[in-house]
Amino acid sequence: MPGTEVIWEARAKVSVAMARLERLFDDGTLEVIGAEVTHRAQGFGLEKKKIPGDGVITASGLIEGRPVFAYAQDRTVLGGSLGQAHAQKIARLQDLAMRAGAPFVGINDSGGARIQEGVDALGGYGEIFRRNVAASGVIPQISVIAGPCAGGAVYSPALTDFVGMVDQSSFMFLTGPKVVKTVTFEDITVEDLGGARTHAERTGVSHFRWGSDEEAIGQVRRLLSYLPSNHREEPPFVAPGDDVARMDVAFNAIVPADPRKPYDVRRVVELVVDRDTFMEVQAGWAKNVVVGLGRLGGHVVGLVANQPLVNAGVLDIDASRKAARFIRTCNAFGIPLVSLVDVPGFLPGREQEYGGVIDHGAKLLYAYCEASVPKLSVILRKAYGGAYIVMSSQHVGGDVNLAWPRAEIAVMGANGAVEVLNRREIAAADDPEARAAELRADYEERFLNPNIAAQRGYIDAVIEPCETRWRLYRHLRVMLNKREWSAPKRHGNGPL
Ligand code: HXC
Repeated sequence: MPGTEVIWEARAKVSVAMARLERLFDDGTLEVIGAEVTHRAQGFGLEKKKIPGDGVITASGLIEGRPVFAYAQDRTVLGGSLGQAHAQKIARLQDLAMRAGAPFVGINDSGGARIQEGVDALGGYGEIFRRNVAASGVIPQISVIAGPCAGGAVYSPALTDFVGMVDQSSFMFLTGPKVVKTVTFEDITVEDLGGARTHAERTGVSHFRWGSDEEAIGQVRRLLSYLPSNHREEPPFVAPGDDVARMDVAFNAIVPADPRKPYDVRRVVELVVDRDTFMEVQAGWAKNVVVGLGRLGGHVVGLVANQPLVNAGVLDIDASRKAARFIRTCNAFGIPLVSLVDVPGFLPGREQEYGGVIDHGAKLLYAYCEASVPKLSVILRKAYGGAYIVMSSQHVGGDVNLAWPRAEIAVMGANGAVEVLNRREIAAADDPEARAAELRADYEERFLNPNIAAQRGYIDAVIEPCETRWRLYRHLRVMLNKREWSAPKRHGNGPL
């Protein structure tokens, strides 16, 4: 068209976006789709800026030999903003990924809806969101935030299974600092408002915080190695390079004899899974619970472990949200759950109650009850109150429930129990302190061990710590074909 400035350079040069995709896919497997698409928008001088590809590269290819569909936005083209044609390309790629039953990866680097395109841009995001939701639980969806992202460029990732950010160079917010300033007059830096650290440690919106673009892409490839291509496939099996029957005496030394002493539950996790296979998810947020993917005897498992190192491993709002979301992700993709339990209960207090801990705790409860994948658990030390029930107990559908010999299973600890049950008796005693100590000792002997639960059949076996990996594997291998059907319904209505 005469007078139209076609920005062919965007295609001629090897863009950052293309380099990212080339790194993502196995060498020589990338196929670009829709490279010639341009926008049809008028106004704001756009008619003079026809950009082949319209600021996004959409492509298919292989990762470790398996089909994957991915897009990468190009920030050098109108800020990576999403217009109607840009959106149409992404939506088409989503459709193809669904038809192929293959994972979908978005590398986001975009200021969101292209302001000049108005409702066409907004509608474009709607089309993408709708497809994100339709694909949820069908194919894995992974989002990399690789630059400053706003508006729809963060809402679409928020609808996907995993979000990861690149430190210092990527940001996520609904509206950037410039818009914040015009609305609330607040001065805030991009890093504070939505940097990788903010979302990895404060909000939990990001599941991973990576040091560089290269690391991000490498970790997406690794993450995909734990996920099936779609919900009808099994997660990929990788023959373990680690003896599944190894009896590890190191287990015995991890949990201190003093029940008030903390320890790092990740050491237990590392000993349970095949060597070097643990990939922690949301490592920087709600650290009182540890979640992540690993392999046990080559089979992918999702690990959920209370972390005594942080706030004694108590369950609170954020820990409940974190674990619940992870459990649902595992369940959607057929990944069995292994829960390592050492939890003093739910965190009491006004802040938690006002924050709605009832609803958030119920999310975790709901997620465990709903999960139909194999559910295995080991009580390492404490399992108190509601937290005992929630954490994959037999009562909420746990398939296998093991306990270490010093496991404590009770409604509450001895101090609290004696205070509630024996207050009057202690006050009336000649020596109240001595009587209280006696009552506590009696309570501890009665409840602070796994014996009653084992006698009732709520615990399937009390095992030696060193046997943990082997026994979990033996239970896992017989549960791998587990199928559970629930009553037909439109969908459950758990607290979101
Ligand atoms: C069109 C955009 C754009 C947008 C950025 N640009 N965002 N163009 N539409 N949404 C352009 C800029 O004009 C500029 O063009 C270039 O991209 C780089 O932008 P800068 O602002 O110079 O970059 P930086 O300082 O790095 O800031 C990046 C940013 C900021 C933080 C993303 O651009 C920003 O705040 N943009 C607006 C973000 C936003 O509020 N989007 C919400 C859209 S609503 P030149 O030509 O000067 O280089 C939305 C609806 C979704 O997405 C619905 C959700 C439910």
